[in-house]
Amino acid sequence: MQRVSRRRLMNMVAAGGAGVALTTLAKTVTTKAENAEMTAEEQAATVIPAARAFSGQHVPKPLPFDPAKLKGLSEKLLKSHWENNYGGAVKALNAVEQRLAAMLPDKDLPPYIYGDVKREELARTGSVVLHEHYFGNLGGDGKASGKALDLIRQWFGSYEQWEAEFKKTANALGGGSGWTILSYNLYTGEVHNYWAWDHMHNAPMGYPLLVLDMYEHAYHMDYGAAAARYVDAFMQNVNWDEVNRRAEGMRVRT
Ligand SMILES: [Fe+2]
Repeated sequence: MQRVSRRRLMNMVAAGGAGVALTTLAKTVTTKAENAEMTAEEQAATVIPAARAFSGQHVPKPLPFDPAKLKGLSEKLLKSHWENNYGGAVKALNAVEQRLAAMLPDKDLPPYIYGDVKREELARTGSVVLHEHYFGNLGGDGKASGKALDLIRQWFGSYEQWEAEFKKTANALGGGSGWTILSYNLYTGEVHNYWAWDHMHNAPMGYPLLVLDMYEHAYHMDYGAAAARYVDAFMQNVNWDEVNRRAEGMRVRT
């Protein structure tokens, strides 16, 4: 097992070392290996195990549909969104985790510096999870059915009333950023359309059933500032089979 001195580690972190190098460091850091007086046993005892939480090995999920076949959402838009915004979030999350791994053994690191990277960990995780749900619930015929429809009727009275509230929530985010999320709340046992200003903003314990990306990058290429037309197009392409899989997979509170 390779060992890296604390001094060398800090120099690499300060220089913004490559992600691969940081991953290696996380697995091999020792804080006293340069001390020539340490015995082999003492040196072995100082080796810090790798933190799996910071492995930084996330891989983008491919689009689960043919982007040339959606109604009202162009192939160019969908590919750009998937590659640049979602793909960028995956890369950033890996970089953030690798940087956290490198910071882990640094006892002198100011908490406010660490906090900045922890904020990025939360934001990038939210972006990856929500984008994967968003692309995952596209590619269908837009016709609600099954357990999801049952839940919608149970909590909103009718599909039409739910859709109107979902669209109203989404349009309230038009021209800005955020997400609209039909969620089953694992704590309250209720179903709501939650408004989310950014990747980190969601109701605690909200389990996402249907996710709509309201960042401008999700529609500006096709619709300019006409966010409401994008929301209409989204509804025509919802894959309710996937929404139903999510609804069937959650643990419903009784
Ligand atoms: Fe997005």
